[in-house]
Amino acid sequence: MSAEARALDAEQDLAKPGASTLPVGLLGHGTVGAAVARMLADRGEAIAGLTGRRPELAGVLTRSRGSFEEILRRSEIVIELIGGIEPARGYVLAALRAGRHVVTANKQLICEHGEELFAAARENGAQLRFEAAVAGVVPVVRVLTESLAGIEIRRIHGIVNGTTNFILSAMEAGADYEHALTQAQEKGFAEADPEADVSGADAAAKMAILARLAFGTPVRLADVRYEGIEHLISDDLQYARELGLGLKLIGTAERLAGGVSVRVHPAFLYGHHPLASIGGPFNAVTVEADSITEITMSGPGAGGPQTASAVLGDLLSVISAAGSPGPPVAAPVALPLLEDTDSAFYLHMEVADEPGVLVAVAGVLDRWGASVKSVLQRGLGENARLVMVTHPLSESRLRSAVGEIGELPFVRSPPRAIRVIEEEFE
Ligand code: HSE
Repeated sequence: MSAEARALDAEQDLAKPGASTLPVGLLGHGTVGAAVARMLADRGEAIAGLTGRRPELAGVLTRSRGSFEEILRRSEIVIELIGGIEPARGYVLAALRAGRHVVTANKQLICEHGEELFAAARENGAQLRFEAAVAGVVPVVRVLTESLAGIEIRRIHGIVNGTTNFILSAMEAGADYEHALTQAQEKGFAEADPEADVSGADAAAKMAILARLAFGTPVRLADVRYEGIEHLISDDLQYARELGLGLKLIGTAERLAGGVSVRVHPAFLYGHHPLASIGGPFNAVTVEADSITEITMSGPGAGGPQTASAVLGDLLSVISAAGSPGPPVAAPVALPLLEDTDSAFYLHMEVADEPGVLVAVAGVLDRWGASVKSVLQRGLGENARLVMVTHPLSESRLRSAVGEIGELPFVRSPPRAIRVIEEEFE
């Protein structure tokens, strides 16, 4: 028998009977599942001291070992760390319908099937907790559903994908995109298919969950407009630095007149923004509301022990709130999802270095209502590189202006447009 199989057998020892024992079923034994199993053993006494219940593994389900039905029968709480939609969805639904509390780190599942699961939890008096599904150990789910649940949230900005933040930090330091992505994979931040990270889809699923919690409206991945970092080049980062800007993949969920906007895209931040200093694989989320100005939380967004710490926190919350009326997610209220939002923009283009070029570009911007905030020009032999930052305008107007600028005879490469986040907090 292999060492891993022996360890699994030891973990699957039946929970010992006793008033203080809390039998926990563990679905999934990958990086996070194994870390949770270790922490349950290491921290069991401490949790018993805090809650009066000592969690003990009632069974572990892996691809090749264990029976879900048997684990469900033996458990009071089920921890789902399989990831993906099926079979995780079926197991979580079955557990909730059987009145078991569930803790999960599964962002796809909560994003795509949250309403079905929240309803199952409500109807069966079970709790469904998912702190680790968004931003790893950063306690943003708890803050939105408990600490700030009484106020009206205006906006959330998040760096909620560690892989892309790591890649952008490395590119800022001079590394190329491919090398930085390989490093992120080697360090274990990236998803099995890193396309989900670099395309912005992973961050979009997390922002959909945060929008649901902050605004009460159901948001699925298909409702989120997202762009990734694949098309960015080192020049974007180098030139922007001279304008005092740093580049991040930013998720935004905001309440606007007439609805809610949820989106993910690369964005420049000025140095004083709370997210500007978040480098490497870290995650951070800024929550804004009139009554609090803003709060920012940051920390590791991935990793075995880090994510397991958030799972353990949810387990404690389940034990502490057992017997209270239901989970912390209220019934949904549908709000319109808006697509065309205002933003400041950074524009980067190569033009012929001749009289009248700057005036012509500025003229197009002016016709579309874009006011220029700053300009930087560098000579490139017969050409010049022109970098501009506009004041806020709607994305549709900016796209029209960019299309028109691209048609001007002296423009050598189509303008590149990247949003700029301008918020300041005093
Ligand atoms: N691939 C994800 C990231 C892991 O890089 O943030 C956590 O969801």
